[in-house]
Amino acid sequence: MGFRGFYLSFVLLALSFELQNLNSETLTCHLDDFRALNGFSSCLESTIAGWNNTSSPGCCTWTGITCDNSTVSCRRVVGLELGSQKLAGKICGSLAGLSQLRVLNLSHNFLQGSLPDELFSLPNIEIIDLSNNAFVGSIKNKGMCTISTRIHVLNFSNNQFSGKVPKGLENCNSLQHLSFDENGLSGSLPESLFQLKNLSELNLQGNSISGSLSNGISNLSNLVKLDISSNLFSGVLPDIFGRLAGLEHFSAMSNLFTGHLPNSLVNSPSLQMLNLNNNSLSGPINLNCYAMKNLLSLDLGSNLFHGPIPNSLSSCRRLKTLGLARNNLSGKIPNNYRNLKSLTHLSLSNTSLNNILSALRILQYCRNLSMLVLTMNFHDEQMPNDENLHFKNLNGLILANCKLRGSIPQWLSSCHKLQLLDLSWNHLGGSVPSWFGKFESLFYLDLSNNSLKGEIPKSLTELQSLISGNITIDEPVSSFQFHTARQGGPILSYRQISSFRPTLDLSFNNLQGPIWPDFWNLKRLHVLNLKENNLSGPIPNNLSGMTGLEKLDLSHNKLSGEIPRSLVNLSFVSTFDVSYNHLCGKIPEEGQFDTFPSASFEGNNGLCHAEYCTCQSDQIPIHSPREKKRIIIGLPFEIGAATGFVLTVIFCFMSGLSFP
Ligand SMILES: *[C@@H]1O[C@H](CO)[C@@H](O)[C@H](O)[C@H]1NC(C)=O
Ligand SMILES: *[C@@H]1O[C@H](CO)[C@@H](O)[C@H](O)[C@H]1NC(C)=O
Ligand SMILES: *[C@@H]1O[C@H](CO)[C@@H](O)[C@H](O)[C@H]1NC(C)=O
Ligand SMILES: *[C@@H]1O[C@H](CO)[C@@H](O)[C@H](O)[C@H]1NC(C)=O
Ligand SMILES: *[C@@H]1O[C@H](CO)[C@@H](O)[C@H](O)[C@H]1NC(C)=O
Ligand SMILES: *[C@@H]1O[C@H](CO)[C@@H](O)[C@H](O)[C@H]1NC(C)=O
Ligand SMILES: *[C@@H]1O[C@H](CO)[C@@H](O)[C@H](O)[C@H]1NC(C)=O
Ligand SMILES: *[C@@H]1O[C@H](CO)[C@@H](O)[C@H](O)[C@H]1NC(C)=O
Ligand SMILES: *[C@@H]1O[C@H](CO)[C@@H](O)[C@H](O)[C@H]1NC(C)=O
Ligand SMILES: *[C@@H]1O[C@H](CO)[C@@H](O)[C@H](O)[C@H]1NC(C)=O
Ligand SMILES: *[C@@H]1O[C@H](CO)[C@@H](O)[C@H](O)[C@H]1NC(C)=O
Ligand SMILES: *[C@@H]1O[C@H](CO)[C@@H](O)[C@H](O)[C@H]1NC(C)=O
Repeated sequence: MGFRGFYLSFVLLALSFELQNLNSETLTCHLDDFRALNGFSSCLESTIAGWNNTSSPGCCTWTGITCDNSTVSCRRVVGLELGSQKLAGKICGSLAGLSQLRVLNLSHNFLQGSLPDELFSLPNIEIIDLSNNAFVGSIKNKGMCTISTRIHVLNFSNNQFSGKVPKGLENCNSLQHLSFDENGLSGSLPESLFQLKNLSELNLQGNSISGSLSNGISNLSNLVKLDISSNLFSGVLPDIFGRLAGLEHFSAMSNLFTGHLPNSLVNSPSLQMLNLNNNSLSGPINLNCYAMKNLLSLDLGSNLFHGPIPNSLSSCRRLKTLGLARNNLSGKIPNNYRNLKSLTHLSLSNTSLNNILSALRILQYCRNLSMLVLTMNFHDEQMPNDENLHFKNLNGLILANCKLRGSIPQWLSSCHKLQLLDLSWNHLGGSVPSWFGKFESLFYLDLSNNSLKGEIPKSLTELQSLISGNITIDEPVSSFQFHTARQGGPILSYRQISSFRPTLDLSFNNLQGPIWPDFWNLKRLHVLNLKENNLSGPIPNNLSGMTGLEKLDLSHNKLSGEIPRSLVNLSFVSTFDVSYNHLCGKIPEEGQFDTFPSASFEGNNGLCHAEYCTCQSDQIPIHSPREKKRIIIGLPFEIGAATGFVLTVIFCFMSGLSFP
């Protein structure tokens, strides 16, 4: 039975059904559509759940299919929407049979191969969304809209398309949304793109597009959103923003733009979001806030702007996020920044700021401030301890690498909403205050590389969010760069607060005393770093309760006793370091311990892989004669055998601990 016969039987079946129950809706689709869909399905490697040939006489009930309301026996397929259906394989030309198709949405699948030309011969197609697949090859270059004249959405985001930005777009008069972002496109923008007068959203970010941004872009007078970030655009920004009267969102971050901010850009009344982070723009920051009435988010970080921190920005009253980090600015925070009442996120790291006391006194008036990043400023100043400072809504304070003197200030204890605190790489002395334990939302604490003394406060084992993992994070309205400056290490840059891993980092201080057994409470902690302190006593047996731990660094302390065997249960730990302590006994061998390098254990003298290697001070460790692996970590093998035992005894003895 051929397709036609097959189809006829459907029709008859449908009709008989119809006769039985006149009210029932028949779902028979046109034979061309039926064939085209079967062809489509047969090109895939996966089957589509709910596409059943035999039980229902047509395809209108199949998953993702929409039919029109035309004649009873012969409805046409107008929608094929199979987003997130785990489809794999290729799409083939048989789709061309869907001559009435208006919406094609195959996003979020595993489709691959190149696009068939037939895709652009669908005469009625309006929306094509192929985003988030693994399509390759170039996108059709010619006559994209000569047959398909009604296309208004084209989404090719997040694939592996290569070649140039297609030239053949000039006939796509109806196009409103065009997205090629996150692909491998190169070359410069074709002039034909600038004929798409109805375009309101253009997403080109995350490619390798080069050349300048031509004045032609001013022809796209209906643009609302333009994102060309993370490409290789160079030259100056064109002074055409006056003609883009509806532009709300402009992002050109991480390109190679040079020159000053164009006059029409800094006077745009429509712009809400402007992101020029990580270019080589220079000159003063001369925004006209009286014109830019709608500005909500501004990021000019990592450029070559110079001059004082711009006073005039304080008139941008709606501003929620402001990033000026890593520019050649200087001076104090202007007094009138206290008027930025809407401000939630502020980053001024590495801008040669001085006078931290004045900065904090001014910024505390920005009552909605949630994230404050002031890293790499205020060199050698004193950490203010003014008890009148109040930051009631602060979720995050990143004040690292400032060489600040003094101690951890008491006023911080009133920041009840603190989730993230980074005071690393300063010169802070004194102790770690016990009130840290009261921060219910704190999940990231970095006090590393200071001169903190005393014990680790036991209250750190009571940090609620590290126990329950109940963390709600307010992300900024738009992209916002957090740089955590590391001396000698890479500069880590985060886009989101949620990408910070739950961390306690107290490394490189002078802390002493024990590691509290109650740390086991912190089931949601991912990173525990206590490296380079003077901590002593044993590694508590029940640290194995920290089931979320990925990194545990206890190296360069004075810890003694054995490595608790129970730590093999820390199944997520991928980085483990107990080197340079006074540990002894057998190194556990199961679980993740198989994967740790010997450097993780060196410098302990008393640690070994031997089967009956123990820590007991009153008994010579017995080694099985069958034993194959036998390394005394941290010492050459030859002397290891002899001295290892002696050192084991001495260290264990000195530590004052006895083992049963
Ligand atoms: C539907 O049936 C036809 C003919 O029997 C077959 O070739 C095709 O693969 C089937 N399609 C689906 C989606 O099961
Ligand atoms: C097709 O429909 C029949 C009858 O309802 C059912 O038994 C069969 O499992 C269905 N097949 C698929 C692949 O859904
Ligand atoms: C079919 O008709 C109904 C009701 O008149 C309408 O809501 C629906 O959008 C129509 N469907 C199509 C695909 O035109
Ligand atoms: C396509 O489907 C996805 C869901 O899978 C949806 O998020 C997206 O908005 C759809 N695209 C269009 C253009 O409607
Ligand atoms: C593709 O882009 C269109 C237009 O911007 C949008 O409506 C659609 O949701 C996008 N698709 C996905 C999967 O995000
Ligand atoms: C362009 O957009 C306007 C308003 O949205 C619409 O009236 C017009 O038909 C569109 N032009 C084309 C060629 O689609
Ligand atoms: C811009 O539009 C004008 C007419 O409105 C047209 O003559 C010109 O060629 C267009 N420029 C580009 C670069 O497409
Ligand atoms: C800055 O932009 C350059 C390209 O101009 C890119 O290679 C680099 O990764 C970007 N840096 C950041 C932190 O985004
Ligand atoms: C920073 O600006 C000062 C003048 O304000 C100038 O002397 C210095 O060369 C600039 N540094 C850089 C790296 O551009
Ligand atoms: C700090 O900013 C200067 C330019 O103002 C830049 O040259 C330097 O690389 C920046 N340092 C870091 C660590 O970001
Ligand atoms: C401050 O935040 C609150 C709560 O999110 C909001 O209702 C209020 O409008 C904000 N204030 C300003 C000046 O934006
Ligand atoms: C998480 O916190 C919210 C409010 O902060 C609370 O309503 C909710 O009950 C908490 N959930 C758990 C599992 O603790």
